[in-house]
Amino acid sequence: MKSLYIILSILSVISIGNAAKILCVFPAGAHSHYTIGYSLVKGLAAKGHQVTFASPFESKESIKNLKTIYLEDVQKQAEERFSKRSIFDIVNVPALAMIPLVGDMGLWTSEVTYSDKAIQTILNSNETYDAVITEAFATDALQGIAYHFNAPSILVTTIGPSIWTNYVTASPSMYSYMTNPFLAYTQKMTFCQRVINILTAFLQNSLNVIYFFPQQDKILHKYIPDAPNLYELIKNTSLYLFNSDPVLNVPLPLVPNTIEIGGIHIEPPKKLPEDLQKFLDDSKEGVIYFSMGGNLKSKELPQATRDAILRVFSKLKEKVLWKFEEDLPGKPKNVEIRKWLPQQDILAHPNVKLFITHGGLLSTVESLSRGVPVVGIPVFGDQALNMQNAVTRGYGISVPYKEFTEEKLSSALQEMLGNSSYSQIAKEMSTLMNDKQVKQIDKAAYWIEYVIRHKGAPHLRVAAHELTWYQYYSLDVILFLILIKIVLIKVFWIVSRKLCKRLCNKKQTKQKKN
Ligand SMILES: *[C@@H]1O[C@H](CO)[C@@H](O)[C@H](O)[C@H]1NC(C)=O
Ligand SMILES: *[C@@H]1O[C@H](CO)[C@@H](O)[C@H](O)[C@H]1NC(C)=O
Ligand SMILES: *[C@@H]1O[C@H](CO)[C@@H](O)[C@H](O)[C@H]1NC(C)=O
Repeated sequence: MKSLYIILSILSVISIGNAAKILCVFPAGAHSHYTIGYSLVKGLAAKGHQVTFASPFESKESIKNLKTIYLEDVQKQAEERFSKRSIFDIVNVPALAMIPLVGDMGLWTSEVTYSDKAIQTILNSNETYDAVITEAFATDALQGIAYHFNAPSILVTTIGPSIWTNYVTASPSMYSYMTNPFLAYTQKMTFCQRVINILTAFLQNSLNVIYFFPQQDKILHKYIPDAPNLYELIKNTSLYLFNSDPVLNVPLPLVPNTIEIGGIHIEPPKKLPEDLQKFLDDSKEGVIYFSMGGNLKSKELPQATRDAILRVFSKLKEKVLWKFEEDLPGKPKNVEIRKWLPQQDILAHPNVKLFITHGGLLSTVESLSRGVPVVGIPVFGDQALNMQNAVTRGYGISVPYKEFTEEKLSSALQEMLGNSSYSQIAKEMSTLMNDKQVKQIDKAAYWIEYVIRHKGAPHLRVAAHELTWYQYYSLDVILFLILIKIVLIKVFWIVSRKLCKRLCNKKQTKQKKN
């Protein structure tokens, strides 16, 4: 008994010895982003780490080892900034305009995060941290928090790697097959698409260098005056985690300190509330689950669109379960609405045949993990890209919000419900997705612990940051080789002309002699 006690106390000391203090800042006001951050910190806390999680969402749960901090100022300012218009208005913003829009949003996010009282309290405290995790998307100034605590900087982005993030770790950006997420092209681009893709990249890189990086640098030095140049902090990033997966997104070349953890928020199915369980069990003819996600409120849908959707639903023999935030007068008999629904658990019910979604990454991932095919109504951001993937791989049909008509939705539903190939592919995708060496949270935790153990793990970084852009693309070498080639051709030309002349002269003198 005594020896067991000794062993247990030694074990507990060892586990305390390995436990790290981690600060995690997730400033985005979108609930899907919060979900990813919260899944990550919950997992880290469960492994014994002391985690502080700051976000503009209030947490009701109390979890061992996890301290949540509410970024009230960020939340208030976000409400002011975004309350004026519905997200459905963004639909008409062209992809090119998304570049300054997102850049501007990033500046705003960096500023409001630093100026938040809770973040200021953390920065001015005597706290120490072994690692700082920040959510990143055009918010480079926030790398200053890790610098302030002299801790390895770990970034998380809630979409997959792309031109928006590759500059940090210097993962290769091949514009021939890697597309800008907002363009929503497939990897097999036409010539014109490749032209647009590369021009977009050029515009984005130029805007960053000319405007957005200097502005981020200003914010950085306003709040962390002793920080080095922003580029130094970007270069010093230890680890980059992405909410993506080559099965769900597209396969990409990634450098060793870039890790994909898509699906980290998927949990085993839980028991459903009784009324929902009964509704789903009783719907033998099948159920279509419909939700436009957390940011897009179905009630903000224009009346005409809403009526069109209801007309389509009323003609179906299947039941429809719709996440709708208010009363829905005139809803057909086969439509059931709820303000909130446990999406992952509903999708796990065998009677659910189809998911009508806005195509957000979390919803797409949840649907696939349960093997349910999707009809997407993408509105903005990466939603069109996710739906493009679904169409390419054959587990979904896209009816973009911009082009939405009653007929298109109706024929998409008829096609999906009448053709089993979509659901079969979704099931295959689910098998692929779940075939992992370790769980995504274990993978994330391993890499976070790894960079803490190895003092930021600079040995994982590629040398690209030490090169100028023309060295990176070997343009200087190519130019040099072209010059050599020109010189060689020239020399060869001169020599052969001289030789030729001499030979000819010899011939002539010979002829004359003869
Ligand atoms: C931090 O430590 C210093 C010196 O030990 C002390 O004077 C100061 O009050 C501490 N600040 C906070 C916020 O605890
Ligand atoms: C780079 O990160 C390490 C921690 O991984 C930190 O100690 C160091 O001060 C950082 N250097 C710069 C220039 O940011
Ligand atoms: C079902 O859909 C797949 C993929 O779109 C298509 O190739 C196939 O021909 C369809 N089958 C029928 C019977 O329509």
